[in-house]
Amino acid sequence: MKPSEAKPVERVIAGLDAFNAAHPWNHNERLHPWILRNLPDRRERALDVGCGRGVLLAELAVRFDAAHGTDVDAPMREAARQRCAGLPNVVVDDAQLAELDGPYDLITMVAVLHHLDAAESLRQAARLLAPGGRLLVVGVAPPSGPVDLLWEIASLALNPVVGFVKHPRRASGVDPRPPVPVRDAGVSLDELKRIAGDIVPGAAFRRRLFFRHTISWTMPG
Ligand SMILES: C[S@@+](CC[C@H](N)C(=O)[O-])C[C@H]1O[C@@H](n2cnc3c(N)ncnc32)[C@H](O)[C@@H]1O
Repeated sequence: MKPSEAKPVERVIAGLDAFNAAHPWNHNERLHPWILRNLPDRRERALDVGCGRGVLLAELAVRFDAAHGTDVDAPMREAARQRCAGLPNVVVDDAQLAELDGPYDLITMVAVLHHLDAAESLRQAARLLAPGGRLLVVGVAPPSGPVDLLWEIASLALNPVVGFVKHPRRASGVDPRPPVPVRDAGVSLDELKRIAGDIVPGAAFRRRLFFRHTISWTMPG
């Protein structure tokens, strides 16, 4: 279909997509400061599940005695190792939650829970956390009701504004780095709350702008 044949709404969406691609910014890294403000008191071992390129892992490494990043994707592991090359307390591997031994004082999952079985991953996180240890999740979920839709619309409208402020010059060319594996989220926020209610009771959920939510839970004890 030629652009001139597209419906007005489709043209607006295509225009927004093109603008966002030209002024990119990272919706996950925006919430790293939230994570760093909410660290547990004891900071011996941190685990970043699905660490991607290791940006958060490097931040955790300077705050914890040991920082462990896991990722199933080999190019992501290589990128994370390169980013953390000067940090001897960092380990990056492809271990799955069920294979790990705790205790960890912090477990982070940034844009990862929707890649995993949510109930099983929360159960494993609860098994691995030390008493007083903290689980901090930055999540992605499809909108499932009018309130979610309002957040979605606000995010769609503000996203290009933030992109333009953070990245005023148009991005040129293709990013030479290996792409971060992404996946569409299937479990809605309401459903996730129901799942978490049994496994990490009392976890604090917050909707966030720019297509994210956060979950925070502290292991009792
Ligand atoms: C959307 S990316 C987010 C990466 C990183 N946390 C960030 O914020 O940039 C999701 C990551 O989860 C990783 N992943 C998917 N399934 C995983 C699993 N079972 N165990 C560990 N990592 C996984 C992917 O390879 C990818 O790097």
